Amino acid sequence: MRILFVSSEVASLVKTGGLADVSAALPAALRKLEMDVRILLPGYPQVMKLLKPLKPAADLRKILKAWPAAKLLAGTMQNGVPVYVLDCPEMYQRGGGLYADEHGQDWPDNPERFALLARVASLLCDGNSPLDWRPELIHCNDWQTGLTPAYLRKEGHQVPVVMTIHNLAYQGNFPKALVPALELSWDDFTLEGYEFYDQLSFLKAGLSFADQITTVSPTYAREIQTEAQGYGMQGLLAHRSSALSGILNGIDLEEWNPAADDNLAACYDDSDMSGKLENKRELQKRLGLHADDDIPLFGLVGRFAHQKGVDVVLDVAERLVNLPAQLVLMGTGDKALQNRALALAHQYPERIAAFVGFDESLSHLVEAGSDMFLMPSRFEPCGLNQMYSQRYGTPPIVHATGGLIDTVVDCNAATLADDSASGFVFYGLSPESLLQAATRAVELYADKAAWRKLQANCMAKDYSWLASAQSYLALYRKLVK
Ligand code: ADP
Ligand code: GLC
Repeated sequence: MRILFVSSEVASLVKTGGLADVSAALPAALRKLEMDVRILLPGYPQVMKLLKPLKPAADLRKILKAWPAAKLLAGTMQNGVPVYVLDCPEMYQRGGGLYADEHGQDWPDNPERFALLARVASLLCDGNSPLDWRPELIHCNDWQTGLTPAYLRKEGHQVPVVMTIHNLAYQGNFPKALVPALELSWDDFTLEGYEFYDQLSFLKAGLSFADQITTVSPTYAREIQTEAQGYGMQGLLAHRSSALSGILNGIDLEEWNPAADDNLAACYDDSDMSGKLENKRELQKRLGLHADDDIPLFGLVGRFAHQKGVDVVLDVAERLVNLPAQLVLMGTGDKALQNRALALAHQYPERIAAFVGFDESLSHLVEAGSDMFLMPSRFEPCGLNQMYSQRYGTPPIVHATGGLIDTVVDCNAATLADDSASGFVFYGLSPESLLQAATRAVELYADKAAWRKLQANCMAKDYSWLASAQSYLALYRKLVK
C-alpha cells in the first residue's frame, strides 16, 4: 500500500514536541509491515541541512502558478523512510522557530505556509502529479495538514484520508478572507465544512472531510467528545464518533534505550541498575545540584505551556524539595514559567535546577538520572515522556488524564503485588494532590526492595510501535480496497 504521511515536524530533523517523534517512528514501523510509506515535510533550514543527500524530484512552479516558487526534493531518513521535502524558500527558509519567530510571535503567513503543504499533498494524488509514485492513502497529522482533504475534495479526488489529532488545542483558525486566497471554495465554508465561529479552521477541515479520524490514546478519543476537552469541536467529533478511534502511540525503542544510549554517563538495564546512579551523579554535577546519592530526585521535561501543568509544580516546588528531594525542571515556552523556574533554582541552588532550552541529549540524561518523573498535565493526548521514563526505570507521577491514564498504573499494595504498578496517578490537578502523590513516591523510594520492584515493572512494559502500527494498518485496510 502506498501511503503519504504528511507532517510539519519529523525527529530528528525538526522537532518541537511529540508529533516529531511519532512522525519519525510510525512510518518506520509501518514500513516494517511492508507498507510503502513516504513522508512529506516542509523544507525548513534544519531539514535542508541535515537530510543528505537531497535530490531534485519535481519542479512545482508550472503546476502551482498562484503559489511562491516551490520544488520537491527527495531524501531518505536514517531509519530508511523516504521523504519528500517541500522546498519553498519564501515560506520555510527563515530563522526563528517552525511556527513562530524568535520572540514567540506566530508567523503571519502560517496559513499560506501550511495551506501549501496540504495543497502539495493533494497534488501528488492528481493525474498531473509530477511524481511517478501516486499515494493510495494520505495520513495527515494535526492542523498544519488539515486542509489536505479539503483540496482533494475541491479537485474531485477520491483518495482516502486519515486525520490524526495529536493535540486538539491547536486548531489553525484564521480569518475567512483567506478562503479565496488559499484557493479554497466558499461552498465548503459551512458548518459541515471548515467554517468555525466564522473563521477558516484548518483542523476542522480535516475533521469534517477525512474518512477516518484518529487520536493518540483511547481515553483522549473519549475526552475530546466532551465540552470540557473538546475545544468547541466536541459536537463535530461526537457526530463523527463512528469514524473516530484512539490508537496509543508507541515509543522508539532504539532511540530510547537505557542499555545503549550515547547520551548517558553510563548505560544500564534491569539486570544491572548500577549505571542509573552514575547518571544521577552526572545530572547533579552538570546542573550544579548538591551531590547526594540518596536524596530522591524529581525530573520534569516538557514544553512550558499551560497544558503541561508546570505552574502547579512551581507552586509546590518549595514543599517538594523540603520532603526532602531535588528537582530538575527542563523545558522552553512560556516566558513567565521559565522565569519562575529560574528564580526558584537561584533561590535553592542545591535542591532545584532549571534548564531553559531544547536539548535532546540532556533530556535523555534527565530521564535516566532522575528517580521519579513529573508529568502533571492538565490534558495529555498521549504523552511520550511518561513512557520514556518507565523504560528508564524512572516511575512517572502523573495527573489522571488522556494518555497518561492509558499508560500508567497507580502503585498501591495490590498493583505492586501483581506487578502491574508503573507509577503514581493522582486525580484532580492541584498543588495538594500533586504533593500527595509525590509524597507517596518518596515514601516508597525509602523501601529499596519495593522501589526496585516498581522499577522492574516499569522497565518490563512493552511500548513498541508494532501493535500501534498494526492498528493503523487495519484502519488503512478499511479504506483502501
Ligand atoms: P508534547 O508533544 O505535548 O510536547 P510529548 O510527551 O508527546 O508532549 O512529547 C514531548 C517530546 O518533546 C518528548 O520527546 C520530550 O522529550 C521532548 N521535549 C520537550 N521539551 C524538551 C526540551 N526542552 N528539550 C528536549 N526535549 C524536549
Ligand atoms: C501532542 C500531544 C502529546 C502527544 C504528541 C504525539 O503534542 O500533546 O500528548 O504525545 O502529540 O502524539
